[in-house]
Amino acid sequence: MQRAINAVEEMDRPDCDPALLERTYAQFPLVNRFVSGWRQVYVALIRPALPRHRTGTILDIGCGGGDITRNLFRWARADGFEVRVVGIDPDPRAHDFAVRAAAKAGTDPTLLEFRRASSSDLVALGQRFDVVISNHVLHHLGPVELAGVFADSERLARTVAIHSDIRRRRSALLFFGLATLPLGGSSYVRRDGLTSIRRSFTTDELSRVVRPGWHVHAPGLYRNLAVWHAQEATS
Ligand SMILES: C[S@@+](CC[C@H](N)C(=O)[O-])C[C@H]1O[C@@H](n2cnc3c(N)ncnc32)[C@H](O)[C@@H]1O
Repeated sequence: MQRAINAVEEMDRPDCDPALLERTYAQFPLVNRFVSGWRQVYVALIRPALPRHRTGTILDIGCGGGDITRNLFRWARADGFEVRVVGIDPDPRAHDFAVRAAAKAGTDPTLLEFRRASSSDLVALGQRFDVVISNHVLHHLGPVELAGVFADSERLARTVAIHSDIRRRRSALLFFGLATLPLGGSSYVRRDGLTSIRRSFTTDELSRVVRPGWHVHAPGLYRNLAVWHAQEATS
């Protein structure tokens, strides 16, 4: 199955239906819980990278409605870390949803913060974070933006950068299509999810587009993880 690089996700259209988009952000937590595997990534790669002697920092690039950002904040706090977690998204609709969801959850906006920004905005401000992550962002990007996000992540991450995305396989279309039948017309989750699978990389393809120093792993059947360790880059 060829990569459908020209297929456009509905949620990326500025004039898409606002009610469907709102429900898409609202349904992301459900999808992420079943397909994204961030709890395992948190335990294996993020928790060991957080400092105990000072406030740790995590950046979520392209955070969408912010559910993974909120989960990372919650897990790190439950493990006794002092953390500040920042979720950025250039799309004002995503930013607005994430801010409202965090307010509803009652989190302190100085510790869990959402900004309407791109990774390059934060690089320009000279910001650094112990851990930099993204989920389901890589397949949205064209070649120039993709190279930019990898380069920005290296500048922004003090310890580790982790980009997780869907791995393209024909069977993923079948399983995701069946599993999301009930969500059908209520949001863009099903339609955009199927487009995302067709836009996503195989593990070999992703290995060819990362910069030197990045490692691409394939946990499970349907995931790619691109990981960069600052220590390796400086040793
Ligand atoms: C499918 S959503 C994923 C949202 C969230 N990370 C999640 O997993 O639920 C992709 C998000 O990436 C954002 N995005 C697209 N291009 C981006 C870029 N160049 N830099 C940062 N975010 C971007 C979009 O605005 C969108 O909110």
